[in-house]
Amino acid sequence: MKNLIENTVEFVKEKLEGAEAGHDWFHIERVWKLSKKIAETENCNQEVVELAALLHDIADPKFHNGDETLALKVSREFLESQNAGEELIEQVLFIIKNISFKNRGEVPENLPVELKIVQDADRIDAIGAIGIGRTFNFGGFKNNPMYDPHVEPKLNMSKEEYKKSNGTTINHFYEKLLLLKDLMNTEKGKEIAAERHDFMLKFLDQFYKEWNVD
Ligand code: ADP
Ligand code: NI
Repeated sequence: MKNLIENTVEFVKEKLEGAEAGHDWFHIERVWKLSKKIAETENCNQEVVELAALLHDIADPKFHNGDETLALKVSREFLESQNAGEELIEQVLFIIKNISFKNRGEVPENLPVELKIVQDADRIDAIGAIGIGRTFNFGGFKNNPMYDPHVEPKLNMSKEEYKKSNGTTINHFYEKLLLLKDLMNTEKGKEIAAERHDFMLKFLDQFYKEWNVD
């Protein structure tokens, strides 16, 4: 019999067939690999980490009429079909439920280390060169302007200010991407995020330089 991780890989690949580019199988694969890398440096349940990484975007509410329970339902059904134990299922579902950036501030304290790991991995995939690529891809899909030179970019923009800024792709860096490195939970996550953060700052410098034809 094939093992649970391999079966999950197969299941997720099939489920994400035709998914949009920001959350396709390759995003999952990167988050899975990053999670494993971080897990090596933490005392944790490796199986829980891998399963949660693989299943974390299985049914994004954005693409399912805001249904936040669907991912949990789909994951539970799959894990039950694999005869996974109830304790393992609960641990994995807890991570899928609480991983999202938008839940920051609302999550309970003393989070399980497995959640911290997968959350770091998912956030790391939103920054650096890949993060820049995903962000411009998303902005292009929405037909957003890349940049508005009349809006001065600043960190920690509120949702209101962000809306006023026309939702440019460059502003997404200030609204979200440049904040992520300080939200890392693990030491390894901080280390990886720091390098990618620096790369984004260099990118922005160069972007403004080229924009202004300096
Ligand atoms: P996540 O899956 O991390 O919760 P989202 O679904 O919000 O992220 O976004 C998917 C990708 O698109 C991410 O890389 C994110 O940074 C990017 N993105 C989200 N909102 C915007 C935006 N308004 N402009 C440009 N990129 C965005
Ligand atoms: Ni994700």
